[in-house]
Amino acid sequence: MAMKLSYDGVFAIITLDRPDALNALRFQMLEALSDAVDEVAASDARALIVVGAGDKAFCAGADIKELMNRSLMEQRRGAQLGQCAFGKISKLPIPSVAVIHGYAFGGGLELAMGCTFRIATERARMGLPEIKLGLIPGYGGTQRLPRLIGEARALEMVMSGRTVDAKEAERWGLVNRIVEDGDPLTLGKQFMSEFIGYGLCASQFAREAVERGMETTVEAGLAIEADLSTLAYQTQDAVEGMTAFVEKRKPEFKDA
Ligand code: CAA
Repeated sequence: MAMKLSYDGVFAIITLDRPDALNALRFQMLEALSDAVDEVAASDARALIVVGAGDKAFCAGADIKELMNRSLMEQRRGAQLGQCAFGKISKLPIPSVAVIHGYAFGGGLELAMGCTFRIATERARMGLPEIKLGLIPGYGGTQRLPRLIGEARALEMVMSGRTVDAKEAERWGLVNRIVEDGDPLTLGKQFMSEFIGYGLCASQFAREAVERGMETTVEAGLAIEADLSTLAYQTQDAVEGMTAFVEKRKPEFKDA
């Protein structure tokens, strides 16, 4: 299948498993990925980790050989399929991380940008090289990249197709942090363990406030924040969190 979904305790794990082709995304893999994300959404997992198999790549992008000789409508459906699969990851109720331990190019970087977070090892190399193929990014890159790193830097990457190393990616905010080389799954678990101890209500409201706010004016964003923050006060977890502080004990959140 070239894509695997597995679970390990609180973690759901998606592994791109086509190392001979640097985990390049065939359309069948995108369909499987989309179904896998639906399954994760319905599961009890508290975090999703996306990794690539093999030493060399997270994912080298869409499968170029498969992109060739397709009709105009097939190309459009292909773009919509990738956008839909990565959009589902971005809308999951739980946070996700892409662990970039090698190449993340084109659709591979677009997949990583659909995740809530990205971490990279020193060896990571990232880029949107579609322009070198006479193409432009089609799985969300032209939209998510400027939101992450700003318009000027996004245009630089998209219009030159140049490769960015881990240090530059961290400096630009394309990745959250650089981590020491190691097993990608272990690195992902270590990173995500910072986020999974809290109640889902507050965690989801916080993310929603930031993400919805990014799409609108500061004024409208502040209204979203006021509403979601008021909603957070209504939860049992908020009562528990504040009571536990006053009683000098660890809170026990119940996602309620
Ligand atoms: N599609 C299909 N096959 C790919 C691939 C891709 N995107 N990337 C790598 N492969 C295959 C190679 O064809 C090669 O297979 P063979 O051994 O059968 O020839 C194998 O993976 C190993 O690749 P290389 O020999 O090229 O490895 P390298 O270490 O010399 O180079 C690389 C690595 C710089 C990542 C290089 O493979 C490369 O430039 N890949 C293409 C990257 C790219 O352009 N990605 C964008 C794709 S278009 C896209 O993603 C559109 C979109 O927005 C959705």
